[in-house]
Amino acid sequence: MRILVTGSSGQIGTNLALRLQRDGHEVFGVDKRLNTWTEEFRYLLQDLTAPGGVGDDYPPTDLVVHLAAHAKVHELVREPRRALENAIMTFNVLEYCRTNELPLVFSSTREVYGDVHRFEEYGEATADFAFTESPYSASKIASEALIYSYARCYGLRYLVFRFSNVYGRYDNDLSRMVRVIPLFTQRLLRDEPITVYGGGDKTLDFTYIDDCVDGLARGAEALGTDKVVNETINLAYGQGNTIVRAAELIGAALGVQPEIVFTPALLGEVTHYVADIRKARDLLGWEPQVPLEEGIPRAVAWFREHPEHAADFVGDWVPQEADFKVATH
Ligand SMILES: NC(=O)c1ccc[n+]([C@@H]2O[C@H](COP(=O)([O-])OP(=O)(O)OC[C@H]3O[C@@H](n4cnc5c(N)ncnc54)[C@H](O)[C@@H]3O)[C@@H](O)[C@H]2O)c1
Repeated sequence: MRILVTGSSGQIGTNLALRLQRDGHEVFGVDKRLNTWTEEFRYLLQDLTAPGGVGDDYPPTDLVVHLAAHAKVHELVREPRRALENAIMTFNVLEYCRTNELPLVFSSTREVYGDVHRFEEYGEATADFAFTESPYSASKIASEALIYSYARCYGLRYLVFRFSNVYGRYDNDLSRMVRVIPLFTQRLLRDEPITVYGGGDKTLDFTYIDDCVDGLARGAEALGTDKVVNETINLAYGQGNTIVRAAELIGAALGVQPEIVFTPALLGEVTHYVADIRKARDLLGWEPQVPLEEGIPRAVAWFREHPEHAADFVGDWVPQEADFKVATH
């Protein structure tokens, strides 16, 4: 297939584009930033929030994978306009799909479930917009809603994937995008203490990048061949791990004992999530391969091989009182 990947300079976009090319697909990317990792696929530099929409500067395409977004939860609490930009990007991409009759794969998030501590495992049907936790969640719920409406009104064919804490390869550009595993790795490498926002029992479902990309690649093929159409699917490892456990595994990979400081959760943050991944298994024959104990050593090894991408890191952002969540449940 000829596949257009938006957000192709980002972590998931770069990994996905390379994987799709290896699978024999023809990939074309779009991002507003240069790709600092690879020159192995073609892409256009474009801001997808532009009022004119996506435009016509693209080669013919069979399917679109829309990954471009402002992807940091707390950053959007501080700058909610970016949430609106996420929704505008999705709208522009949807219009492109409508005009060109293209199927769409979309990157949503476990944030759409909120931080409600209602379940042990979160199945796809349990999302409810009444639990919207942050402007970022709102931007993804709005994007999902637009997609479902385009399916009903214009016959759009889609797959929506909900990811959770994707880590590994191409995520250590710390001056741009501070994520917990690269951040802890950098801090522990410098012998600095690490901060866990949300307490010692904060539990998340960490997903190794290759598992996420494998699900997306299977989804693109299934949608492109009409085998799986109009479904919303969790893509995660399907197991909860505390952040403390992640920190210990990073410490073990680096041979250091982490010193951990605990604070309340930040506004907008999810503090408990474990995905129900049965739907991805059933529909796509997908099975995650990399548990956290194997993924973290791989991610840390990658980080150490590419220190240049972390070089500009000047330290973690320091939260103010107003950045912390007031308990609501
Ligand atoms: N990585 C995760 O843990 C995770 C979890 C849940 C959902 N997601 C979603 O998956 C998608 C990909 O995430 P990622 O981890 O690769 O993030 P990323 O930030 O590495 O990549 C997103 C890319 O989108 C681009 N972009 C942002 N605004 C743009 C614009 N106006 N025009 C063109 N390009 C623009 C950025 O430059 C960036 O390269 C995002 O939509 C994100 O919300 C990621």
